[in-house]
Amino acid sequence: MTDRIISPKKNSEEAGFDVALRPRSLDEYIGQDRVKENLRILIEAAQARAEALDHVLIYGPPGLGKTTLAHVVSREMGVGIKVTAGPAIERAGDLAAILTNLRQGDVLFIDEVHRLGRVVEEVLYPAMEDFGLDIIIGKGPGARSIRLKLPRFTIIGATTRLALMTAPLRARFGAVYRLDFYKEAAMLQIVRRSAGILGVDVDEEGVSEIARRARGTPRVANRLLKRVRDYAQVRADGIITRAVAQDALALLEVDPLGLDDIDRRVLWTIIEKFEGGPVGLETIAAALSEEPDTIMDVVEPYLLQLGFLDRTPRGRIATRRAYHHLGVEYREQAQPNLF
Ligand SMILES: Nc1ncnc2c1ncn2[C@@H]1O[C@H](COP(=O)(O)OP(=O)(O)O)[C@@H](O)[C@H]1O
Ligand SMILES: [Mg+2]
Repeated sequence: MTDRIISPKKNSEEAGFDVALRPRSLDEYIGQDRVKENLRILIEAAQARAEALDHVLIYGPPGLGKTTLAHVVSREMGVGIKVTAGPAIERAGDLAAILTNLRQGDVLFIDEVHRLGRVVEEVLYPAMEDFGLDIIIGKGPGARSIRLKLPRFTIIGATTRLALMTAPLRARFGAVYRLDFYKEAAMLQIVRRSAGILGVDVDEEGVSEIARRARGTPRVANRLLKRVRDYAQVRADGIITRAVAQDALALLEVDPLGLDDIDRRVLWTIIEKFEGGPVGLETIAAALSEEPDTIMDVVEPYLLQLGFLDRTPRGRIATRRAYHHLGVEYREQAQPNLF
């Protein structure tokens, strides 16, 4: 699962590559027009008032550009950015150390913000709202609480799981944006741009073949481009044409819609083992020896987007389209016997 070619999750060796391809400004950031427009207004208004930006929450599936956008925003604001993640802030003291090191206007980017601990969250509330940090001095009956004033800063939170965020934390973000899978035109632009930066020789049809199979996800597009480039170098004359891209992607088992082995196995499991569903996520995960989280974060969003999967209160159902894509004859789902 970790070296899944189309996984939108980042692997560590990719870090440098990722940074090189990362857009630096809102103009360079392709697609997500509605979000960009809203951010432009937010940024311009804050700058005109010489204030720190409101706290911003960005959510959506992995690989769509949440981290990139946080860096872009800090750059557009002309402020510094500190980067951390929910699970990394273990104790209230860790958060206090981070907050007291921020300068006026700085951005604190908290990735996986839904994974903050309860105690840490409670320290964060007054910090976000009143820019105050309550600390307890002393022990026992003599202990007293004092409030430390913090500089005005901006939290940018990112999450793949908005539903797992507590309501009070969510309420403290003044602006909440959802990133969607990228449309085809944006995907083409992203592949072209990355090829340019990496100096990859690819024709328009090669670009289109890669863009189409990258499941609307820039990180996947960049990864496929890199793999196809390798293939072109070794098996062709270094130029990515449609035929070269198709051969390379077939070898990587990425199908024309961008589904890979695990996507197909999830659909197969629902269709063959559970008669098309409904079947619970945990059950699917167990049947495949995969983590339910991985299936929910990485596999399902795209299958839902394609209309291959339905989420119902009783579990997941494979749709007629999914049967068709796999070349399996469609059967109506058995109706549950209610009595
Ligand atoms: N709007 C975009 N335009 C061009 N490239 C993008 C865009 N969004 C993301 N990318 C590329 O995709 C990669 C993954 O984006 P990232 O911000 O790390 O995603 P996330 O944090 O949502 O998982 C980045 O390195 C960047 O190269
Ligand atoms: Mg990220």
